[in-house]
Formats: sequence, structure tokens, C-alpha cells
Amino acid sequence: MTETTPADTGTGYGRKEPSYDARLAEVGPGTPMGELLRRYWQPIAVSEQLTSDVPHRTRVLGENLVVFRDGQGRPGVVFERCAHRGSSLFYGRVEEDGIRCCYHGWKFDVQGHCLEQALEPDRGRRRDVARQPWYPVEERYGLVFVYMGPPERKPALPRYDALEPLEEGERYYAAWPIPGLPPTGLVSDFSWLNMYENALDPSHVCWLHSNHSGYQIMGTGGTGLPEAFFDPDAVADNITYTRTEYGAKYDHLIRDKDDNGEPRVRSFRTELHLPNVFVLPDYVGLPTDQGPDHVMWVVPMDDTRHRVFFSTRSSDPERLTRFALGIKQNGKDSWLLTEEERQRFPGDGEAQASQGAIPMHSEETLATSDRGVVMLRRMWKAMMDDVEAGRDPQNVTKVDGPPRHCDAGIITMPAGTPETAPAASAAGA
Ligand code: FES
Ligand SMILES: [Fe+2]
Repeated sequence: MTETTPADTGTGYGRKEPSYDARLAEVGPGTPMGELLRRYWQPIAVSEQLTSDVPHRTRVLGENLVVFRDGQGRPGVVFERCAHRGSSLFYGRVEEDGIRCCYHGWKFDVQGHCLEQALEPDRGRRRDVARQPWYPVEERYGLVFVYMGPPERKPALPRYDALEPLEEGERYYAAWPIPGLPPTGLVSDFSWLNMYENALDPSHVCWLHSNHSGYQIMGTGGTGLPEAFFDPDAVADNITYTRTEYGAKYDHLIRDKDDNGEPRVRSFRTELHLPNVFVLPDYVGLPTDQGPDHVMWVVPMDDTRHRVFFSTRSSDPERLTRFALGIKQNGKDSWLLTEEERQRFPGDGEAQASQGAIPMHSEETLATSDRGVVMLRRMWKAMMDDVEAGRDPQNVTKVDGPPRHCDAGIITMPAGTPETAPAASAAGA
């Protein structure tokens, strides 16, 4: 008799169509995540690059907008489509007191008031009934912020202790050091979730940026973070995730010796201020016990694209380069790589973009190294529940307060922290 081997049914045949969690991934008006993100000020442009020359077209949370600075220096954000008959204000002209549409010459100020209707009797006897949809803006830390949420819910624009006060000789650097970008920044063609979830996924550093692609972070290997930091077998013992007042942080322990050869334990700590802000240590300079000088915002354009904005407080222009270009692939900046090098030395860009324009949640297999990501998704969902229940979500404050503490950096751990990681096998037992 011939024995038949049971068929292995784990093939790709008959798999369901992949799907995503719309509650997390969709950001347009009226969606749960879209309404949550609309309760916060979002960066929309770099202040010093926004001149009174021409208007700039952008897209934020699924809405097409035009951002400009009028001749009096006031930044403005309005809908792209003219309230008259829909021509794009991208083709409009910036004037002393507003922006004028190219088609029939209607002019709107930074709050959308119609100042003039060029072809109407008396330049518009009833111009006050035409209002260009607009959003409030404020400038801080070298960035222009926009508030796109319900007017009666408008919060105070938050301040961060990582960014103030400016010390002698310091300034804000908020523009990507890449020539030719508009003031609205650098676009990435995939969901903001791929990028922001990466901020609470420190274990990937122990694979992607080291064991897989070679040491990619300038200052790692022999000269910076010790090799043990990247040991995949120590991940479970070295990384913890904790909720904080403003969101969540991870601690990734660095176990090495100080200049006197004494064992020391420090933490590489990143904090997320929900829903879409985070603060990283200086991952190239690696200064110990020095507060962070840097804040980042991940801002969705729509469901499948996003932008990263940042502000760095520094007296050293190199600090910005170290931040923006501090990860090398095969020793090169990412835009210089051949396709083969991108395959052999992939970095964050390859890993995150290839997760998909929208992450397909039904296809994921979450495991222990995803604890931070799971924590983050739960926290977002609680915040969306708050919005739906009519409550202000976490980190919304209506009054100007002191700067929020940013709990990030390379931090000396308290005495008593074990100097060596327990054996991975023992920890797993
Ligand atoms: S469409 Fe803008 S003025 Fe007519
Ligand atoms: Fe990374």
C-alpha cells in the first residue's frame, strides 16, 4: 500500500484578500484617526523657507491646501480651491494683505475673508458673504503649525523643553538639508503609520541597522555604541517599553565600561508624545546625560503618504547633518545607492516603504518584539474613543503651559541596574 502524506495546507492558495485596520490607517475628515489628529497642531511648512514670493500647494490629512506668507509677513493656510469657482490658489498671487486668485481676481486674507472681487461692481458689494475656507496658523521653533480641528476645541500650541530656551549662539534648524525642497518638506510615499510605529520599534536596530546591513549608524561599532547593544539574543533583556505622561518610551540598555574601565549601564531612550510626535537622542554624537535638542512630527498627507517635520536647537550646523544623514547604507547616503546596494544594504527607507502604502494589518504576525507597536495602537485607540465620546484626548491642553518634558537621551541608569544581561536562554525559560 502506498502511504499518502497529508497535504501541507500552509501554502498561499486561497488566502483572503489582505485588509487594513481602517480605524488606524485612514486620516481623512470624519475618520476616527483623522478626527484624532485634527485635535492637535500639525507642522505644515518651514518658517524661513516660506517667503512672500509664491504660494505653495500641499496636502494634509487628506485635504488639499495652499500655504503662503502675505506681504505683511503673516503665514496663511487656505483651501486650494477658490471659493468663487474652484481655480487653484496655487496659481494665485501673493499680495500685501492676502492671496489673489488668478481667474477672476478675488482676493482673500490669511483668515479667508474676501477683501476684493475684481470683476464685481465696486469690487464686490457683497464680498463679505464669500469666505475662503481657512485654518488657524502659528509659528514656533522654525515651523509653521496649522490647526485643522473643530474651532471650539482648539488647544494651545505645545512647547517642549528639548527646544527651549535657546542658549547663546543657538538657533532652530527645521529644513531638511536637501536642496530644492519646497517649504512644505519632503514627501514619503507610504503611510505615516509605518514611520511612526518605527519610533517604538527599537529592536529593528539590532537587526536591520547592524546584523543585516552592517553598522549603519555613524558612531556605532568600535567607536560608539558597543557591539553588545546590537546583540539579537539580548533584545528581550535589554529593551523595555513604558507608558509616560505624554505617551510612551522605550529604554534600550547600553552595557559597557566607562573611561576608567568600570562597568556602566546607560539607556538609549526615545519618547513618543502622542499622537504623532517623538523625541530621539542624538544617535550619532551619543552625549551622555544631556537633554535632547530635537523634536520630530510625522504628519500624514493622506492614507498613503506622509511627511516628517523636525526642529533641532543647536549652535552647530553639523548637528542637523548628523540627524538627517546620520544613517549610511554601504557607507553612502541613500539617494546614491544602486538598486543592488539597496537590496544588499537596506535601511529604514527600504524596510518601511516596502511594508506597503498602507500596512495590511490582516497579514501581520505580531510577536514579542512588537510590544511597543501593540502598546502604541492600543493608546491610539483609547484616544480615538475619547474623541468619539466628546472628551479631549491625551496631550490636549487649552492653556499655555510650561514646556513639556521630553524624556529622551543617553541616560545613566540608577545604581543596581544589572551590569550584564541575564543569559537569553535563562530569560526565555
Ligand atoms: S475661480 Fe477664483 S476668482 Fe473666480
Ligand atoms: Fe531605523
